[in-house]
Amino acid sequence: MSTIVLDNVWKEYGDQIVLEKVSLTIASRAFVALVGPSGCGKTTFLKMLLGEEAPTRGTITLDGIPLMAEPGPDRGVVFQRYSVFPHLTVLGNVLLGKAFTGSKIAARLFGASKRSAVEEARQLIADVGLAGSEDKYPAQLSGGMQQRLALAQALIMKPKVLLLDEPFGALDPGIRAEIHVLMKRLWHETELTVVMVTHDMREAFTLGTRVIAFERPRDRPEERERYGALLSRDIDIWPPRIAGEPSIFAPDRDDPVMPLGLAQDDLAPTQGDNP
Ligand SMILES: Nc1ncnc2c1ncn2[C@@H]1O[C@H](COP(=O)(O)OP(=O)(O)OP(=O)(O)O)[C@@H](O)[C@H]1O
Ligand SMILES: [Mg+2]
Repeated sequence: MSTIVLDNVWKEYGDQIVLEKVSLTIASRAFVALVGPSGCGKTTFLKMLLGEEAPTRGTITLDGIPLMAEPGPDRGVVFQRYSVFPHLTVLGNVLLGKAFTGSKIAARLFGASKRSAVEEARQLIADVGLAGSEDKYPAQLSGGMQQRLALAQALIMKPKVLLLDEPFGALDPGIRAEIHVLMKRLWHETELTVVMVTHDMREAFTLGTRVIAFERPRDRPEERERYGALLSRDIDIWPPRIAGEPSIFAPDRDDPVMPLGLAQDDLAPTQGDNP
């Protein structure tokens, strides 16, 4: 189980209010897609779920327990870029998380624990479709392969919650579709609750069980610092997708079902792309 509850969460940086009054319950095993204009606080929201930032007001709990004030192994994260370490091989990157928890001081694994970690990492590398690339460096991989690696790196710790910040935004459409299939399989086959930020409505409706949007109701220049973004839309996907179960309504689970009257541009960013 991994139910996340946000109760009246606010985030302010100095005088600037970024997010206001966010109250939200994310069910265990949900796949929440988060959309909204650039600068509305999506990454900030993920950082709070990760424990990298604390809310300035309100509380966030995971299974009833206040979130730790720092990232823990129960939460994994994949960013759009720079998630993997360029000086480590594919295998080294996936092993990295394990190594740090295995021995905090030396950051190295020995003997039987090393062998089992290597085996586990190789299996995960195969699971994400990178078998045969274990000894390559990130620079020798395509963008899609690097994101598969970043997923494997996040998943080796068996997190309960996987946070994705536009992880597929830089990929071209064909590679994106392939990684969507992988992402869905991982979500169905593991115990993950996923929160994914995306700029792409089609992606949101292809992968999500629920799509939420942040928007600033007051966005004039003089209002921008004094009013934050609110949770403005909350849409459950129909027909419902349930982790681990094929949908009886839509056997092809990759088909996005867009709500009537909602277009790609409706919730898309208005201020250019992510830097
Ligand atoms: N560490 C920080 N210190 C001060 N202000 C910050 C900090 N991090 C973010 N902000 C501000 O918070 C606001 C929201 O930023 P955030 O990165 O969460 O937006 P976003 O929705 O992820 O945007 P994008 O779609 O462009 O990635 C911005 O105005 C940003 O300048
Ligand atoms: Mg962002």
